Formats: sequence, C-alpha cells, structure tokens
Amino acid sequence: MTDQTSNAMWGGRFAAGPDAVMEAINASIGFDQRLAAQDIAGSRAHAAMLAATGILSHSDAEAIREGLLTVLSEIEGGDFAFSPALEDIHMNVEARLKEIVGEAAGRLHTARSRNDQVATDFRLWVRDQIDAADAGLAALQRALVAQAEAGADLVMPGFTHLQTAQPVTWGHHMLAYVEMFARDRGRLADARRRLNECPLGAAALAGTGFPIDREMTARELGFDRPTANSLDAVSDRDFALEFLSAASICAMHLSRLSEELVIWASAQFRFVRLSDRFSTGSSIMPQKKNPDAAELIRAKIGRILGATMALFTVMKGLPLAYSKDMQEDKEQVFDAADALMLSLAAMEGMVRDMEANAPALEAAAATGFSTATDLADWLVRELGLPFREAHHVTGRLVAAAEAKGCDLPDLSLAEMQAVHESIRADVFDVLGVHNSVASRTSYGGTAPARVREQVAAWKERLG
Ligand code: ARG
Repeated sequence: MTDQTSNAMWGGRFAAGPDAVMEAINASIGFDQRLAAQDIAGSRAHAAMLAATGILSHSDAEAIREGLLTVLSEIEGGDFAFSPALEDIHMNVEARLKEIVGEAAGRLHTARSRNDQVATDFRLWVRDQIDAADAGLAALQRALVAQAEAGADLVMPGFTHLQTAQPVTWGHHMLAYVEMFARDRGRLADARRRLNECPLGAAALAGTGFPIDREMTARELGFDRPTANSLDAVSDRDFALEFLSAASICAMHLSRLSEELVIWASAQFRFVRLSDRFSTGSSIMPQKKNPDAAELIRAKIGRILGATMALFTVMKGLPLAYSKDMQEDKEQVFDAADALMLSLAAMEGMVRDMEANAPALEAAAATGFSTATDLADWLVRELGLPFREAHHVTGRLVAAAEAKGCDLPDLSLAEMQAVHESIRADVFDVLGVHNSVASRTSYGGTAPARVREQVAAWKERLG
C-alpha cells in the first residue's frame, strides 16, 4: 500500500509525498507535454510489439493502443488536465490511460523505462524538427534563386572589409546564400542519419529479460535500426547536440544575411526596398520603415547558440547512464527549434518580397574605383606588365582620379598616359562595371552567364 499522497507510479517505497519545492524542481510536464504525440506513438509501437512477442495479450494491447488514441485526441483537443504531481508526459499519459482502459494500462510499462521512453520520444521530436527545418531552408533557397534569376545581370558593388572591392552581380550575391543554406541542409541530413536509431527497449539502462523485438519497434517508428548499446541508448543526447550545432551554424548564416538586409535597406545604401508586410513603423518618427524582422533574425543566434552551449554544459561530465540532469535538455532544444523555424519563415518572406533597387545598385557599383583590378589586369594582358607593376601603375591612376575628384573612367586618355605612356583608348572598355562582371567567367565567378548556369542547376535541384 502506498501513502495517499505519494506518487502512484513509483511511490511504493515512499511514506510521504514530495515537498512542494521538490515537485516544482522535479516536474517537467510544463514543457515536455510537447512530446505528447511522440510519446503516444512510442507507446503504441511498444504495445504492438509486446503483443506480437506474446508478452502482452492481444486484447490488452488493443485496449491500450485504442486508449492511447483517445488520450492523444484529448491532448490535441486541449482538454487534458496535465498534473505536475505526475511529473512528466510519460506518467501523465499512463495515468490517464489507466482511467480509460483500467488495469491493462499498468502492463504497458513492461520491458521499458522512462529512460528509453524519453530518449525515443525526444529523437522522434528532433527528427520532425530536422524535417521541418529542411523544408524551411528549401523554401528560403527557392526565394533566393528567384531573386538571383531576376537579377542575374544586375550589377552591384562587391565588398571586402565592407569597402568597395569589385563589381559583382546581384544574382551571384543571392546564390552565395543558397550555397550556405545548402550546407545547412547537408548538416541536418547528416545529423538525421545518425539520429535515426531507436533507443526503445534499452529499458532503464541494461536492456531487459523479456523477449522483446527491438527491430519491430524501430521499424514501426520509422527508425533504421535499434541502438546497439543500452547504456549509450539512454544516456546519449548527441542527436540533440548535432541538431543544435547545425541550427547554430544556420542561425549564423541567417544573421549575416539579416545584417546585409539591414544595411541595404538604410537610407544611406538604398540597395533594397523591403515590403510593408515585413517591415514596421516607428511610433514617433512618421518617416520610418524599420527592418525589424531582419534585426530579430540577426539576434536569434543568441538564443540558438545559447541553447547549444547550455546543453553541452548539461551533458559534460555526466556519468553513464541516465541522470536527471538530462531533463534539462528539452527546453533548450524546444526554444532553439522554435527560434529557427520562425527565423526561416520570416527570412523567406522578406527575401521573396524584397525589391532590388537597380539604379542605386548600379550607381554604387561604379563608385569607389571598383574596376581598378580590371585596369591592372588590362595592363598585364595588353601591355605585358608584370602584375606587381600593373598594380603600382593602377594605384597611381587611382590617386590621379582621387586628386581630380572623379572615378577611373572619367580620367582622360592623356591623364592616363601621363602615368604610363603605353596606355591606349581601348582601356576604357574594361572600366565599365558591366564589362567587368561579364569578364569574370571562371567557374564559380560572378559573370551573368555563370550565374544563369547556377540558377538553372539550383532550379533543377530544388524542384
Ligand atoms: N522527465 C524525465 C526526463 O525528461 C523522464 C525520464 C525520467 N527517468 C527517471 N529515471 N527519473 O528526463
């Protein structure tokens, strides 16, 4: 007999219930209720396996499986009373199942533990998030490819050190992010492959003496195979850390793109117009149109990287196998996943809607002596100068233009010949920004022809 106030699931050896503070620090139901669907899927698979192996009668298993569906619809319908006294999602579900199907519910926990249960639930949840993030990234890539296609010929300044470097094409710049997000998808896919092993049946830590069929539960839940070591199965959170790590890198990419959008949308740059749908106004300055979404996405890396650090810190130094420390894994991952999904959706909307300001981009591309490298290359190609000397001559021409207060193409031929007597009039052909980008045809280069090839390849890949 257990004391009235002790826990119905494990209170056998307890004479009294927990202190209120103990209950507050111990209970995870406030957040792990997000694992309800996964918990019920895991329990249904477990019950089916127990019946198939003769550990449980088919009638009990059927009652349990049906009852679990009722519990799920109650939770999804929002009329389920979660109880902190029942600690977590696993015991909340089981307790309600008992009210629905009676004694049979008590047989469900045969040959398993909450340790393998939570490991299974959490893997299923993270797997869903990986799939959702992949879909979000693909949508964002499509939006960027559409921008690249529309602006394959559009010239803009390319920067290093945020100083004008060489002209590039808008399409090329957009496709740089498509590459980054492709690597993010690759990392997530890679994490998913390693994640996709089923811990269920590892039980508390040592496996079980019941003749369970772990292949069956693994298959039922869409895993490739069962985990091979029960100690590792219940104490591993690498799958969550890999997801968070990939999410952090992705958030870093999103943050960089956000930063560019914030700069580009400013009155000083005017490279892009963000749509009203993805901007906000100021309550005091009527003229303002703020890129809040970009700023918030730029900041989300703080939460996501923070969650990554938090989980690494929770896991370091933990002895095998399960320790309650590991209950602290979930909120971090939930928060990071929410932040990532929202950021991806907002970025996709912003990119899809934004308008490149072609005149401003083209004008900016032509300032800052952006074709100086083209001029140096011309001196090498046409006059046979060593590159170092060509670099020096070009430097002197830049200084001459600067002194005159103009750009390189505005120097007269005579002014150029004053610096190097062999310069000919056809030098002016390479000083225009369109010629400049068109000439950069090396594989991976910014030439519109190359950009169009990449756009076609991405459209094919993204479907
Ligand atoms: N709520 C727990 C968690 O999230 C479930 C596992 C509890 N296991 C235990 N041995 N107390 O980690």
